[in-house]
Amino acid sequence: MKSFQKEINRRRTFGIISHPDAGKTTLTEKLLLFGGAIQEAGAVKSNKIKKGATSDFMEIERQRGISVATSVLAFNYKDNKINILDTPGHKDFAEDTFRTLTAVDSVIVVIDVAKGVEEQTEKLVEVCRMRNIPMIVFINKLDREGKDAFELLDEIEQKLNLTVTPLSYPIGMGYDFKGIYNIWEKNVNLFTGDPRKDIEDTIEVSDLNTEELDELIGSEAADNLREELELAQGVYPEFNKAAYLKGDLQPVFFGSALNNFGVRELLDCFINIAPAPRPKESDTREVKPEEDKFTGFVFKIHANMDPKHRDRLAFVKIVSGKFERNKAYLHVRNNKNLKFSSPNAFFAERKEIVDVSYPGDIVGLHDTGNFKIGDTLTEGESLNYRGIPSFSPEHFRYINNADPMKSKQLDKGIDQLMDEGVAQLFKLEMNNRKVIGTVGALQFEVIQYRLEHEYGAKCTYENLNVYKATWVEPEDEKSEEFKDFKRVKAKFLAKDKRGQLVFLADSQFSLQMTQQKYPSIKFHFTSEF
Ligand code: G4P
Repeated sequence: MKSFQKEINRRRTFGIISHPDAGKTTLTEKLLLFGGAIQEAGAVKSNKIKKGATSDFMEIERQRGISVATSVLAFNYKDNKINILDTPGHKDFAEDTFRTLTAVDSVIVVIDVAKGVEEQTEKLVEVCRMRNIPMIVFINKLDREGKDAFELLDEIEQKLNLTVTPLSYPIGMGYDFKGIYNIWEKNVNLFTGDPRKDIEDTIEVSDLNTEELDELIGSEAADNLREELELAQGVYPEFNKAAYLKGDLQPVFFGSALNNFGVRELLDCFINIAPAPRPKESDTREVKPEEDKFTGFVFKIHANMDPKHRDRLAFVKIVSGKFERNKAYLHVRNNKNLKFSSPNAFFAERKEIVDVSYPGDIVGLHDTGNFKIGDTLTEGESLNYRGIPSFSPEHFRYINNADPMKSKQLDKGIDQLMDEGVAQLFKLEMNNRKVIGTVGALQFEVIQYRLEHEYGAKCTYENLNVYKATWVEPEDEKSEEFKDFKRVKAKFLAKDKRGQLVFLADSQFSLQMTQQKYPSIKFHFTSEF
């Protein structure tokens, strides 16, 4: 096989999604330990917002610092190059996570055995389900008392709307946790509760009916296991790789990340079944990773980490071809050729300048303000990757300039923060007033703080009663209906950063009434339709 194809085949680019506290950081760390990318536990910093620290500005800075350090964590394992893309679990940063999900080829969903399916898990899984992203579920904290395995599998099917099939099965739980039976590999792994062990001893049990199993875990537990597995076989479909890859079937593993238990099973199955970089739709055609011409897109931007340099790092996912240092690439939106002399590749907690990167990889490009989230780079072809929509924000405020001497700085700051995707800016049609819309309330503090510290500008906010922003698509721009809509709703109309018309509904009721009154106009909840 050609070496380029080999490089593609060995790559696995994925994200771990979970509700905060389910164990994403701990699991990430154990995966890196397997890859030899870190030496000890505690090396991966949590990107969690500490409770009660939401108005602490140091916390915001700490967050951003960590966010850069953990944006991409790459390591090698059994000849695979694995790229983990960081996805913040905090709901106020959900948009960041949604965007990162456009750059992954698969995900692992972590669920707490006691808490089951939580709110953020539901939202994030829904996005993955809509995009048919292959998902593996890891049920964590089996060393603690939690819900019964069947109950959990049921809950996952019901609440997350998935079709699951267990590939490992717990033997006991909490105080009585004895280990797991690996359905995928047909062996038993006994739980010793020793987190320092990074290699587990597994015992082959090719036939569940052997007495060996009774000797290993006791007759009662062995009988229970036999019974439950038989039941599971009756209820859940057999694992099928093609169905998993299509997003139609989700295998489930059980374990305890903190004890590094069940993680090896997960990882070994993952490298086996998880997809290598996949083809991606663009506005003109589907692009395959093995094409020899480079294409990629920006899914994340990080600015001003160093206050002395106005530096920005644009994170580019490589979709096809090789990305080479010092080669000129076309920035499609600006129709401009750009060269990058020091593209960064990411390893666990370390950045390095690299000469060549392959599909599936992420490169960090130093940027002086050319990039916006969603921008496409190619070797000359004019195509654009879609699929990074803006979602309807949930919080809205007017933003006012609090220092008239600094209005230029304010405008520039707002512009750049919007490019980074911190929030969305809308301009009211009526009076050109600026409205900031965010997914979480925390973003307003982030914006105010960063405007002051990075741009020397001051802003104040004013409340604005908006329930939802919806993107407006008329069937016919010239119709009387659309003209009437624009006249009657003039007070509630704004333009987004791309100049698209947005209707800011002040209540659910008024949105419904408007939808009914103007049936030929579509009201979309995301900017891409
Ligand atoms: P997150 O990134 O998804 O938010 O979760 P994180 O890994 O930070 O884990 C949240 C808490 O759950 C941590 O405890 C962590 O030690 C614990 N945890 C993770 N995996 C397991 C497990 O398998 N079993 C048990 N019993 N606990 C687990 P913490 O007290 O909040 O933080 P820390 O002070 O221990 O770091």
